[in-house]
Amino acid sequence: MDHQLCIVLDFGGQYNQLIARRVRECGVYCEVKSYLTPIEEIKKMSPSAIIFTGGPNSVYDESSPHISEEIFRLGIPILGICYGCQVVAYTLGGEVSPCNNSEFGKTEVTVKTDSPLFKDIPEKNIVWMSHNDYVSRLPHGFNVIGTTKDCPCAAMENKEKKLYAVQFHPEVTHSEYGKQILRNFLFEVCDCKGDWVMDDFIESTVKALREKIGDKKVVLGLSGGVDSSVAAGLLSRAVGKQLTCVFVDQGLMRKDEGDFVEETFTRLFDMNFVRVNCQDQFIEKLKGITDPEEKRKTIGTEFYKVFWDKIREEADGGFFAQGTIYPDRIESGKGNESGKGSTATIKTHHNMVKMPEDITFDGIIEPLGDLFKDEVRKVGEKLGIPRELVWRQPFPGPGLGVRIMGEITHEKIKVLQEADAVFRDEIKKSGLEGELTQFFAVLPDVRTVGVMGDHRTYDHLIAIRAVTTDDFMTADWARIPFDVLARISNRLTNEVEHVNRVVYDITSKPPGTVEWE
Ligand code: XMP
Repeated sequence: MDHQLCIVLDFGGQYNQLIARRVRECGVYCEVKSYLTPIEEIKKMSPSAIIFTGGPNSVYDESSPHISEEIFRLGIPILGICYGCQVVAYTLGGEVSPCNNSEFGKTEVTVKTDSPLFKDIPEKNIVWMSHNDYVSRLPHGFNVIGTTKDCPCAAMENKEKKLYAVQFHPEVTHSEYGKQILRNFLFEVCDCKGDWVMDDFIESTVKALREKIGDKKVVLGLSGGVDSSVAAGLLSRAVGKQLTCVFVDQGLMRKDEGDFVEETFTRLFDMNFVRVNCQDQFIEKLKGITDPEEKRKTIGTEFYKVFWDKIREEADGGFFAQGTIYPDRIESGKGNESGKGSTATIKTHHNMVKMPEDITFDGIIEPLGDLFKDEVRKVGEKLGIPRELVWRQPFPGPGLGVRIMGEITHEKIKVLQEADAVFRDEIKKSGLEGELTQFFAVLPDVRTVGVMGDHRTYDHLIAIRAVTTDDFMTADWARIPFDVLARISNRLTNEVEHVNRVVYDITSKPPGTVEWE
């Protein structure tokens, strides 16, 4: 590694990767390591900065994570955050006690602005607190540099030894000057240069992948989504033809999407690309099924059956790769790096899957496992993956299967694909694409009477859905201007065969969900 390194030592906090991401945003390469990492190993990595994360424990609990005092003698600047702050105090002979008044949420802190940690920060500012214990006696050589109404030591420093600790969480956006505090630690205390960029991530990841994979094979399940596409791009750059990507096209993707994925990956990247076209097989399995959950289950089960069958054929020992990103690991309960729960979990989303027992690999590779979605997109752009894939809106695993109510047939898929393509095209032309989180057409399987020329029609109703949301837990329907809606309606009824009526879904979530099924 030619660049300076910051190590985030994970004590079990929920924001450990967020800290790492904030440090990378400052242009300093950062990795999260377990607090159990031997001191010798840390020394070998020769980091320019070390950050201790928060954690749910109390330092006095026997089972709580502790660290050897030796780490403070390495001469490397350390910043302790929340539990990490208490670890600094406890390990260096200070005292930690339960709070009389615990602090949770936004809290005003008063800081000493002559401390390098608080350079260019107002004396009074808002930070995010979340603690039941506090530092009640400072370790030798430390001074208080921040206080709140209820916390006499919200921040402390040992300037000479470059040891800092804050009781609050600078990494979360609720801390007004949090990012500046981390910047100050990196640049004012640790003298970091801040010259790391995403290209360096690509270079070092490609190098590490080459070393790990050697001359073995790798198989990756490509879904056409952002994460697996970017993982495929990185692996292809690392090992070229040793990589086989398996792309299962169940025929429930958007119009021409399967062809686009195939064309992109075979044209841009060196790899073996295996596409399994199985629309007929899926429609056969879905025959007569109208219940949404049963549909979802059938699609999921069939998908993984086809997928693993193909992997069985293609895999030749070697590694299994997947596009897991950091938030997926959190969702599957593996966000904590502290040495617990190291078995491989297959990315599941809403579909629970397990690797069949008869398939064995030398290991699992997750090249994006530490990145957040927007970082993955940056890597994707750098790798030259087309915008349509890198900025693809979320698309559910069961695909159009959950956007066609009732039984799924070839005819209905075709109608919906055409309608969805027209809708998306019109949104793009009207310049609204960037404002909407997700937008798509739905086929409610309702027929209504209409009139075309002099003829009576009795044909499909298309519903259009467009939402804005930050987290998908709640969503608002998008206020698409009436004239755009008018054009969409016009085009759908004129251009898409078997569509004679259009409705716009104006339901927020809750009470509705984003998808109709
Ligand atoms: P809902 O409909 O639950 O959707 O409000 C929230 C987000 O999740 C997506 N979604 C799915 N994604 N498999 C997936 O991979 C699914 O079964 C599934 N159902 C919903 C949906 O598109 C939206 O982005």
